[in-house]
Amino acid sequence: MTDKLQWDADEFGWFGGAGAWGGRFMPEALVSALDELTVAYADAMADPEFVAAFEGALVDYANVPSPLYEAKHLSAEYGVKILLKREDLNHTGAHKIRNVLGQALLTKRMGKTRVIAETGAGQHGVASATAAAYFGLDCTVYMGRVDTERQALNVARMELLGAKVVPVESGSATLKDAINEALRDWVASVDHTAYLFGTAAGPHPFPSMVRDFTRGIGDEARAQCLAKYGRLPDAVAACVGGGSNAIGLFTAFLDDADTAIYGYEAGGDGVETGKHAATIAAGGAGVLHGARTYVLQDEDGQTIESHSISAGLDYPGVGPQHAWLAASGRATYEPVTDTEAMAAFQLLARTEGIIPAIESSHALAGALRLAPKLAAEKGEDAILLVNLSGRGDKDMGTALDYFELASSRKGEAK
Ligand SMILES: Cc1ncc(COP(=O)(O)O)c(C=O)c1O
Repeated sequence: MTDKLQWDADEFGWFGGAGAWGGRFMPEALVSALDELTVAYADAMADPEFVAAFEGALVDYANVPSPLYEAKHLSAEYGVKILLKREDLNHTGAHKIRNVLGQALLTKRMGKTRVIAETGAGQHGVASATAAAYFGLDCTVYMGRVDTERQALNVARMELLGAKVVPVESGSATLKDAINEALRDWVASVDHTAYLFGTAAGPHPFPSMVRDFTRGIGDEARAQCLAKYGRLPDAVAACVGGGSNAIGLFTAFLDDADTAIYGYEAGGDGVETGKHAATIAAGGAGVLHGARTYVLQDEDGQTIESHSISAGLDYPGVGPQHAWLAASGRATYEPVTDTEAMAAFQLLARTEGIIPAIESSHALAGALRLAPKLAAEKGEDAILLVNLSGRGDKDMGTALDYFELASSRKGEAK
């Protein structure tokens, strides 16, 4: 378990051995583009100038390293130390900026002038539009029509930043369909366009590349925890949509056998209702968006629609490295329902004065389920580190409806 290579992909993008998880299932037209990207990426990461430019942009522009905050009220209530990695404080409000600054910098290095992206919650779209403005690139963002409605504020942000937002009507009109549409664009525009993939899923090299651009989350958190508490956390937790913030956190801890790793998927209305996005807990092995991974599918192998109150977790697949970490038993993945996530959303706001993204609230809800077990096993000095992947401003519309805040205000006005 302590061999780092064990967790990495081979040169063809397979995690857990050839044919296991990942790979590249793509139309012929994109294979050479993916080959070109694989070579350019490896070349860039071996170039100290590229690495320095990436790290410089993170520090000067994106406001990283993000702090590691000890949530004192929650810790007292749950009997363990609860540490929050504050990715919500990054520029544009989520971990996503790390990934896009890396990919946009690589786009410049490859001499391309346009980027495309898909987005669910809109955070990756906003981050892509931001990075495009920063690096002087044209930007088009594909977004399911349903998501354009539930994340209208982020659509406005992207447009203000100069990006073109294309609403996608096909399928369930959510993230999966936006990815299909972006892939169609890329086939036709690959000579001058880079596809800024938003999560650690998709065909090789995206899962490895996105992981490497986001792994600063875990590297920083690990060092911050050691510096402040003199030891590593007993457990780390993150929410899992496609898996970028989770793999960004987990990577630093994979070889730390005493640190348990937990990923929390969207359990929606409850896994038993069929209305959820708990891909690892309730899906099976299949191929989606170019990778072999866990997929929500029917008995004919057709991908089925997912559901979550959070647009960013509403995806019927998951990154292949998570599939491998789950199958190998190194990480544990559990569903968290909409109800549990919204309770954690409200609790964090009221106890610590932090309004988290609903995605991140899934991580917190899962961690709070784990906390009493950890307290019983290890006592009050146990450390539980939770990735707060983003801030909740974008989710205020959902919160207004969910907690009926708008209607109670209307009532007061009468
Ligand atoms: C704040 C936030 N957290 C988490 C996610 C889920 O994505 P991933 O699983 O790639 O981290 C999103 C996606 O939009 C997001 O906006």
